[in-house]
Amino acid sequence: MVILAAGKSSRMGLKTSKVLFPVAGRPMVCGVLDIAHEYGKNSVYMVVSPDVNDALAAENVHTIVQQDPRGTGHAFALALDEIMNKDPHMASKKIIVLLGDMPLLTSSDLSILLASSHNAPLSVIGMRPPCAEGYGRLCVQNDRLIRIVESKDATDAEKSIDLCHTGIMCMDGEFAQKAIPQLVPSPVTGELYLTDLVRLAQRATYCQGPWTHFMGVNTRQELMQAERAMQERLRAKAFDQGAYLISPETTFFSYDTVVSPGVVVHPMVCFGPGVVLDSDVTIYSNSVLEHCSIQHNASIGPFARIRAGTVLGPFGQIGNFMETKNATFGAYSQAKHLSYIGDAVIGDHVNIGAGVITCNYDGHSKKITQLDDGVFVGSHSIFIAPIHVGKNATIGAGSVITKSVECETLALSRAEQKAIPLRANSRHLNRVKKGAPEAPVGNLPE
Ligand code: UD1
Ligand code: CA
Repeated sequence: MVILAAGKSSRMGLKTSKVLFPVAGRPMVCGVLDIAHEYGKNSVYMVVSPDVNDALAAENVHTIVQQDPRGTGHAFALALDEIMNKDPHMASKKIIVLLGDMPLLTSSDLSILLASSHNAPLSVIGMRPPCAEGYGRLCVQNDRLIRIVESKDATDAEKSIDLCHTGIMCMDGEFAQKAIPQLVPSPVTGELYLTDLVRLAQRATYCQGPWTHFMGVNTRQELMQAERAMQERLRAKAFDQGAYLISPETTFFSYDTVVSPGVVVHPMVCFGPGVVLDSDVTIYSNSVLEHCSIQHNASIGPFARIRAGTVLGPFGQIGNFMETKNATFGAYSQAKHLSYIGDAVIGDHVNIGAGVITCNYDGHSKKITQLDDGVFVGSHSIFIAPIHVGKNATIGAGSVITKSVECETLALSRAEQKAIPLRANSRHLNRVKKGAPEAPVGNLPE
């Protein structure tokens, strides 16, 4: 299995390689890579440019760097050398080629190719997109694939063909070894085209798949189209899994969002990677979540930012204008207004009032705030971590907690309130009031 993912990405108009641009929260090439792994197990080879090689260093794939991109034929030739060096048995096997810029590919799409490829040294998947511009055209005679002509090299007659090349090919290893050295550069672009292999094959076959799965992404506009199509697919999947999206067109999923029956998502919610929603969870409007787990019957938002490492226990509530990060909340715990809870371990039935802050970072390292079961935190309290508050303790509103608190204790740390009578000419009694007569207000002397 080979993925071609190098090249200049010049049509994107941006410096980053196009295969690194995200679709549903991950680089588009990673979706292709997942599918390649399903079919090719550990023998997946990917041709990449140096920046892609750095960005995907953690992925389990054999990369080959194409320093000087000279077309898909050149990229495949590099991969073929590597494959034959590593595994000479591949000469008697089929090699499948995928492109790194087809983010809408699904794992069932390759089965049609495998079914149609056994009698021929080379077979391809074709498609009929609504606009064929930019795609190679399949030239077919008597149902036989004769050649593929690239858009840039096509005559007007060839451009009128609507059967296009998806970019996916399957070929015998032996045929590839013989044919690749015979490729010559296109007189128009100077590139070696992998698609020219069709001309060199004694027999080439083709099958057809739905274009919406094979669309190639060359421009920013196509990237937007792919994102839109992927979101529609993910929304339909969430619906099938039992979620209700009140305004589906304003719910944005990540490729890996897990939803469960009874989940309700209100308008304008974004899921970053790594979100798991258990049954009967509600996400209210304008919330952004990533790398978190929200357990059954819990709710988030509106206007909440749930960051990596948040776990909200069953029936928990994280309300409006809340930010959480690396914080676990037990069952029935709630923090409903305007707080930042970071690096915290919170037990069951804990109530966190409005405007509470965990000061978790001292400029050097992160420190933990631990609130045990049944703790009640009054509004506008601050925890200077590390802090441990024992079971059923109460923190008085407005406290700055710098020392750990024993269980079943009331902790208060605020300046005592004073009552100072105002003198008659005090400026506090003479504030200008909008709309009031000019005369000063208050008990001035006669
Ligand atoms: C290619 C096909 C075209 C097909 C279309 C489907 C060729 C010559 N053309 O055209 O028939 O209809 O895909 O989307 O194969 N790449 C490299 N090294 C290079 C050049 C490209 O690795 O030197 C990689 C790119 O990262 C990309 C893929 O190959 O993922 C295809 O290259 P691209 O330039 O997008 O080809 P298209 O013009 O779209
Ligand atoms: Ca392309």
